[in-house]
Amino acid sequence: MKRTNVILDEKLVDIVTKELSDTDEIRMRGIMNQKDRDQLLIKKEFPRSSRYDLDWMLDNQMGPNAVWLAEWLCETLPLESGMRVLDLGCGRAMTSIFLAKEFDVQVWATDLWITPDHNWQRVVRAGVAGKVFPLRSEAHALPFPAGFFDAVVSIDAYQYFGTDVLYLGYLSRFLAPGGILGVVMPALMQKIGDVIPDHLARPQANGKVFWEDGCRSFKTADWWQELWAEDSSVTDVRMDILPDGWRFWRDFETALEMAGKNIFPSDAQALDLDQGRYIGFVRGTARRTRTESMNLYDPGIAAQVGVDQ
Ligand SMILES: C[S@@+](CC[C@H](N)C(=O)[O-])C[C@H]1O[C@@H](n2cnc3c(N)ncnc32)[C@H](O)[C@@H]1O
Repeated sequence: MKRTNVILDEKLVDIVTKELSDTDEIRMRGIMNQKDRDQLLIKKEFPRSSRYDLDWMLDNQMGPNAVWLAEWLCETLPLESGMRVLDLGCGRAMTSIFLAKEFDVQVWATDLWITPDHNWQRVVRAGVAGKVFPLRSEAHALPFPAGFFDAVVSIDAYQYFGTDVLYLGYLSRFLAPGGILGVVMPALMQKIGDVIPDHLARPQANGKVFWEDGCRSFKTADWWQELWAEDSSVTDVRMDILPDGWRFWRDFETALEMAGKNIFPSDAQALDLDQGRYIGFVRGTARRTRTESMNLYDPGIAAQVGVDQ
């Protein structure tokens, strides 16, 4: 990293000591951006993530930096070599690749919107073809045997389906008794009343409004704690908040914008105005109990219990 900076600095000196043409100015801006961008993406809080190619993280993102969030999750999730792990809502499979590389686990990289064909190519390129298995599945129709997994993880995806009170009971059935569950999701740092705070509801300078209808699935840590604690299919429920989560999200949005790799207009300005008062990340972990749960999303359930006649 240091070496790259030195080379960039030499190029900068070279450019600023001669008369600048328009192209030079653009080049200089590009070089400065690259350096600033790298500084935004290498975080002492995420040492494992810092070893990954920065462009790979930018090119495969679908929101906040999933690799950072996965690293934070694994600080408290005791993954062990050889475990079978479901990565639910894996998107472009960056987290699946990260888990396989960092913890030597086998990962079923499961997603709805991203085709397994593309994820497989990413997996092969990352050199973990023997450990990461991509497939497409909807979260309520998972094609796995009950009790198959040692761990289930979900990064920036659980909020899309997990707010349903019945969902945890369904998902936990795929864990072996004692198996571990860990999720990280965008969340509220405090409850929002009837009125959305102005800095989240008004257009940013780029015209994008942070708060969309989908943000209603952002809940507080207390909300998630209560939801999970009521469910007898899990125990040892713990929810906590990523310190400075808003700052990591803002920096990643800024880096994406600098690199011109953002899919949607940046939310950096709204996050900066927010300063973590409302927006951040919650991590939830739990362990499966031995409780048997019925699969309420199985279309054959009525026939099985003899009601469908
Ligand atoms: C914001 S993206 C995050 C992807 C990835 N985890 C990451 O952080 O880069 C949310 C992902 O959740 C998945 N998802 C949303 N609803 C889902 C559902 N009902 N079943 C399975 N996956 C779902 C989408 O396919 C999408 O890839």
